[in-house]
Amino acid sequence: MIIILVGPPGSGKGTQAQFLTRELGIPQISTGDMLREAKRSGTLEKRYLDIMDSGGLVPDEAVIGLIDRRTSDPDCAKGFLLDGFPRTVPQAEALDALLERTEKRAGAGVRGDSGATGDQADQGAEQRDRSIDAVLQLDVPRSLLEERLIHRRTDKRSGQIYHLVYNPPPPGADLEHRADDRPEAVGKRLDAYEAMTAALLPFYEKKGLLRRVDGVGAPQEVTKRVLSALGRSSPGKA
Ligand code: AP5
Repeated sequence: MIIILVGPPGSGKGTQAQFLTRELGIPQISTGDMLREAKRSGTLEKRYLDIMDSGGLVPDEAVIGLIDRRTSDPDCAKGFLLDGFPRTVPQAEALDALLERTEKRAGAGVRGDSGATGDQADQGAEQRDRSIDAVLQLDVPRSLLEERLIHRRTDKRSGQIYHLVYNPPPPGADLEHRADDRPEAVGKRLDAYEAMTAALLPFYEKKGLLRRVDGVGAPQEVTKRVLSALGRSSPGKA
């Protein structure tokens, strides 16, 4: 199962992804988290760090490389949930090419294994299924996004996302205020979304994959809508 979460900064992609990965049993892949991890470990190139902190988009080739490596990890064999990737049409095209390549590689692996048992063949069939199931677009008006971002805090140890007003952190949490959540960077990120990522929506609409989800309301309400868009009635049900 491959699911893509699309939506402007602050629309709740990370919040919903934390719930969905548990519910669907597939890992979350967030290019934003991967870039921030590289920043923390000192391996992120300075030019990318400056772009991120000021609210711009890092170049396509940098994030495509991250996705290429991460999706070949063993825990992605049965699928994954993409959060924040793709953001541009070239990234979406690169994802299609990557999935096609992986599908072919897995297919060739199964054909080459003349002694495959039924179970192995089934596993191979599962691995070959590299098609995107749904692209979920979280819809939230811009007027609400700034307020969500400026009051966001993330626990450095657990990665848990909080909001100082709507979902306050517990006492003792080791909180981080993202550099790109400063008001001047927030405006730039929202502009970048409208200029670059919005072009992605018609790309997936034409493929019949796009499902719009109202992202306004309590996080649990939004989760119910997301699951319903995936054809699941409530948490824990297939
Ligand atoms: P990334 O980390 O992906 O940031 P983003 O897309 O801007 O999204 P956010 O993480 O800001 O918001 P979110 O939608 O996950 O909302 P959240 O759940 O946290 O990317 C960061 C940067 O990395 C980019 O700007 C770019 O530089 C670079 N980058 C990453 N991917 C890239 C790519 N593919 N190409 C190029 N560059 C890339 O929620 C926000 C707040 O709202 C929280 O406080 C939360 O508690 C609260 N909240 C959530 N849901 C609700 C609700 N229903 N009601 C009330 N409050 C809510």
